Parts: sequence; structure tokens; C-alpha cells
Amino acid sequence: MTTTTETYRPPPLPSLFATTTPPPTLLTQGAEAHLYKTVFLDASTPAALKIRPSKPYRHPILDRRLTRQRVLHEARCLVKLIREGVNVPAVLAMDWEGQNGESGQGGSWILMEWIDGAPVRVALERWEAWLAKNKGLAEQNTPQYQEGTTRVRDLLRRVGQTVGALHKAGVIHGDLTTSNLMLRPWKADAEVALEAGECPSVDGDIVLIDFGLAGQSASDEDRAVDLYVLERAFGSTHPRTEPLFPEVLQGYRESYKGAAGALKKLEEVRMRGRKRSMLG
Ligand SMILES: Nc1ncnc2c1ncn2[C@@H]1O[C@H](COP(=O)(O)OP(=O)(O)OP(=O)(O)O)[C@@H](O)[C@H]1O
Ligand SMILES: [Mg+2]
Repeated sequence: MTTTTETYRPPPLPSLFATTTPPPTLLTQGAEAHLYKTVFLDASTPAALKIRPSKPYRHPILDRRLTRQRVLHEARCLVKLIREGVNVPAVLAMDWEGQNGESGQGGSWILMEWIDGAPVRVALERWEAWLAKNKGLAEQNTPQYQEGTTRVRDLLRRVGQTVGALHKAGVIHGDLTTSNLMLRPWKADAEVALEAGECPSVDGDIVLIDFGLAGQSASDEDRAVDLYVLERAFGSTHPRTEPLFPEVLQGYRESYKGAAGALKKLEEVRMRGRKRSMLG
């Protein structure tokens, strides 16, 4: 039995990945999923392995059914979105039964295309750190500062366009934060080596990840809630960039015909949110 004082050890890897060279490296372990970087078919093709471990405290039949549903659901969303041309990682393989070795433990998993780069959250944190360090440049509105701001604005537009493409395909993300938006750089790291004082690059394609809570919907209300969740995430995670959030909505507005309806609903959703926070 595990006790709380014991250091946490992730469950054994699914047998397919237990002997690969190099071995998978654990990147993140959320409450629900473990994310590994591994390889696919040959050692030079990276892939992302998302495992939903089984939960020993749940009844085994219920547990299998739940993890299986979520993994299947996530994979189906990804496959549909790839087909529709939305920027998401391709699905390479999966196992929804999630039996692993003799213990019968393990979990269901999806193997996905590896997305280079970092979450948008990291790119914006770098930008905000640069801003904090170079207050003078901002106050004097130097060309360097203007250039940086223009690039961040463009980034936010692309975020809006990508969310628009998702909604156009009839899918709601359900957990839109800047951690679930990847920024895949247009240029390799080596090429964007910073000159002294230059602001960090935010150039790259937006790729949506993490469809564990996604769903199909054609309602403006659901789409507006997606946007609202993202807006709130900006407010709490990127206070210095929040004033530029309207750029996200502008990118969204331009991305598909039905966008206006969702943006209209967003005003209502905000009002409700405000009322709720006033009531405490
Ligand atoms: N395809 C991918 N390529 C590269 N990195 C990825 C990929 N998928 C996920 N990651 C990295 O792993 C992190 C966690 O992944 P993800 O958001 O899917 O899991 P999670 O938030 O733990 O899951 P959930 O919210 O569904 O329980 C991401 O923020 C990202 O940094
Ligand atoms: Mg996530």
C-alpha cells in the first residue's frame, strides 16, 4: 500500500514502451494524465505519449470504463480535427483497454505527434519578464518595444483564429488555457538566438492540445464559454498581456462566419460571471 510519505512513483509504462531506446521521459504528471516524450518507429521521430493511469481507489470496472471513455473521446476529437484541417497533434496509436502486465493496472494511452516548441503560456511569460526588465523601453515607446508588441498582437490574433477554426469544426475545447495552446516556432531555436536586449520570439503556429474535456457543440453559448475561460486565464496568468486580449477576439471574429453570434453571447457570459463573483 502507498502512504503519503512515500515519494510518488508513476505506474509502470505500458509494455510497448517499456523497452524503447531511448526510454520515454516523463514531462508532466497532472491529476489525470502523465505526459511522456518518446519516439515512434525510429529513434529520431519524437512522439508524445499521454497515459491516463488507472485509479486504484475506483472500482476496477468503473475505472476502466471511465479512462477508456476519456481516451477514446480525446482521440476521436483529434482525428476529427485533423480531418478538418485544424492545428492539433495527429494520433499515431492508442490503447483504450489499458491492461498492463500481470497487475492488470496501467491505464489507457494515446501516442501523438510531437509538437515542437513551448506552450503559449511560456512564450507570454518570457515576454512579460522582458517587459518587466525593460520598463524604460516601454515608457519611451522605442522601436524595439513597438516591434515586440506588434509580434505579441499577431500571436494573439493567431490564437483567436485557431480557436475559431476549432469552433468552426463544431468542437468545444472545454479547458482553454494558455497551457493547452502550443506555440510551434517557425524557426529552429538556434536561428532565433537573441541579441542582447532583444525581446523573446513569439513567432510560430498555434497548435491546440489536451482534448480530455472537449465536446461537440453547435451552440453559441458553449463557444462563448470557451472564449470566456480563455479570457479569464489571460487575466490571471498574463496580467501584462491582458490589455491586448481583444486581439484574440479580433482573430476569432475573422475566422468563421458564425463568430459574431458567439462574441455576442460572450457579453452575456461575462455579465453572469461578474454577478457571480459579486455574490461571492
Ligand atoms: N503532442 C504534444 N507534443 C509536445 N508536448 C505536448 C504534447 N501534448 C502535451 N504536451 C505537453 O504536456 C503538457 C500536458 O499535456 P496535456 O495538457 O495534454 O495534459 P494534462 O493537462 O495533464 O491533461 P488533462 O487536463 O486532460 O488531464 C502540455 O502542457 C505540453 O507541455
Ligand atoms: Mg493541459
